[in-house]
Amino acid sequence: MKHKDLISIEELTVKEVNQILDLSARLKANKAGGVNLKGKTLGLVFQKPSNRTRVSFWVGMSKLKGHCIYLSPQELQLGERECVKDAGRVLSRYLDVIAARTFSHKMLLELAKYSSVPVINALTDLLHPCQALSDILTIKEIKKSFKGIKLAYVGDGNNVLHSLLYAAAKVGLDISYAVPKGYEPNEEILRKAKVIAKKTRSKIEKSNDAKKAAEGADFIYTDVWTSMHQEKAAAKRKEAFKSFQINTKLLSFAKRGCLVMHCLPAKRGLEITDEIMDGPQSIVYDQAENRLYVEQAILYLLLKDNKR
Ligand code: CP
Ligand code: NVA
Repeated sequence: MKHKDLISIEELTVKEVNQILDLSARLKANKAGGVNLKGKTLGLVFQKPSNRTRVSFWVGMSKLKGHCIYLSPQELQLGERECVKDAGRVLSRYLDVIAARTFSHKMLLELAKYSSVPVINALTDLLHPCQALSDILTIKEIKKSFKGIKLAYVGDGNNVLHSLLYAAAKVGLDISYAVPKGYEPNEEILRKAKVIAKKTRSKIEKSNDAKKAAEGADFIYTDVWTSMHQEKAAAKRKEAFKSFQINTKLLSFAKRGCLVMHCLPAKRGLEITDEIMDGPQSIVYDQAENRLYVEQAILYLLLKDNKR
């Protein structure tokens, strides 16, 4: 991999994205003999709670014979007990790689700048690359190729959508998103995703109408209406997003057999109904499982070249 860190899918070349997907698939199929992280230690620096990211990185590391240390928000108090610069420099003397979940994206960039070891973005307020890479792996497993496949995203223009825009653009997957007015994705990210999409000939469509995005979709994706840094606005958001729920009616506008995706955790009854979450069209747990293989692949590919 060209870069020391994995901060954003935007920085990856198309070849690197495919390398991650291929190795993930081989790891999943138990066909990646020789790939291990023996003697390597991963530090999980988390400012927010996590189920999938924390457990999948930890288990993924253990299965490749490496070690893991979890640094909870209370233990490290990044930027409070000591500045990010010092924390990054010190952790780099102990660890071989860091996966960090911070509130602000700026803080993650600072940590990466002062860490001499690779830093992996485990979610910030702006991006969630490991999730989106797992999502496109899940789509590829089902469709084999991305050409002519339409992914509809319905909900908030948030970190998950941002990384999906980059991921879809890189692999030539069409993406159509519908968000309420005022909850659009970041303009700069959208602009950059469009530049990539132009090269790979993937389509990016936007609207404020969930039905329009869902029309003819092969996959429909959603995420929570209130992310981990937005709790105070939960009531206002609930109102703004009420016509953006994934339910049986919305699915009737999509392609027959359309599959439903969610990065999880879900607020059942808000952005998605119980019926859809538990129904035959849901592939949400496959997405969660794939986090394991994608993160193993990222760890291996970043450490293999050992840019220190
Ligand atoms: N999807 C995801 O990143 O889940 P966690 O917040 O539980 O890690
Ligand atoms: N958008 C959500 C994703 C959680 C995995 C959040 O940031 O809370």
